[in-house]
This record gives sequence, structure tokens and C-alpha cells, in this order.
Amino acid sequence: MIAIASDHGGFELKEDIKDFLNDAGYEFTDLGTNNNDSVDYPDYGIKLSRRVASQEFEKGILICGTGIGMSIVANKIPGIRAALLNDVFSARMSTEHNNANIIVIGGRVTGKGLARELVKAWLEATFEGGRHQKRLDKIAELERNLT
Ligand code: RB5
Repeated sequence: MIAIASDHGGFELKEDIKDFLNDAGYEFTDLGTNNNDSVDYPDYGIKLSRRVASQEFEKGILICGTGIGMSIVANKIPGIRAALLNDVFSARMSTEHNNANIIVIGGRVTGKGLARELVKAWLEATFEGGRHQKRLDKIAELERNLT
């Protein structure tokens, strides 16, 4: 199950990605925002990231204007591995090597066609484990030592 959220800067792209997810047969929950009115991206980034970290949702998609704000917020939440994506190779790698449980896209940066390709590549890839799991374990250990 996938969660998706945006601020006003990502609202339009969020709606298009929802159409893509629907057409591709993925189940998802939209956590807002629901229109173009100005909102604060941390509110939506924190809400979605917490619900992915708690494993209520397996994966999340966050969209703001550039993707930068949402990336900063999401990666503050222990257990979140958020990847800001601009190209399809990195989208695939974000799963294969990083097991990213959230991807972030810039609604004012990335066109709808590319955004769909990014989501598809991330969702269809498989985490390779092995040496990559060892590296993720080191990140998890860092998080444990911070709290
Ligand atoms: C909102 O104007 C904008 O700052 C936000 O969508 C995002 O780009 C922040 O990083």
C-alpha cells in the first residue's frame, strides 16, 4: 500500500501520479493537500513519513515545488530512506541499492511523463540486499545512536 502527499507546489503533479497509479492497478491513499492553496510542506511530509516509518504504509511518494523541502523533512524521520529523483536510472537504483521507502519529486521541476517513469522504475525494481543491506544497517545503527 502506497501513500502520496504534496504541498501546493506539487498538487498538480500529485493528481497526475494518482491517475498513473490507478491505471497501473496500485492501491494508494492520498494524504493531501487537496487544492492549490498555499500550505506548509513539513506538515504533509511529516504526516506521510511517520505513517511509512510505522509501516502503516509500505511506501510513500512526496511532491513539493523542487522536492528539496520534502526530502529534508522525510529524511529526519527514523526509518525513512527518501530519494529525491530526477532521472530514471536513479529511480531504479533507489530501490535496488537504497531500498528507498519514500521517493520525492519536484512538481515545478519534473514533467508529468518523466514523473510517471520515475514512479514506475522505483516500484518495479527489486532491492538487491547483500552488501547494500549491510550499508543500510549502518544507517539504522546511526539512527539508533542519535536518539
Ligand atoms: C513552496 O513555495 C515551495 O517552497 C515548496 O513547494 C518546496 O519547493 C520546498 O522545498
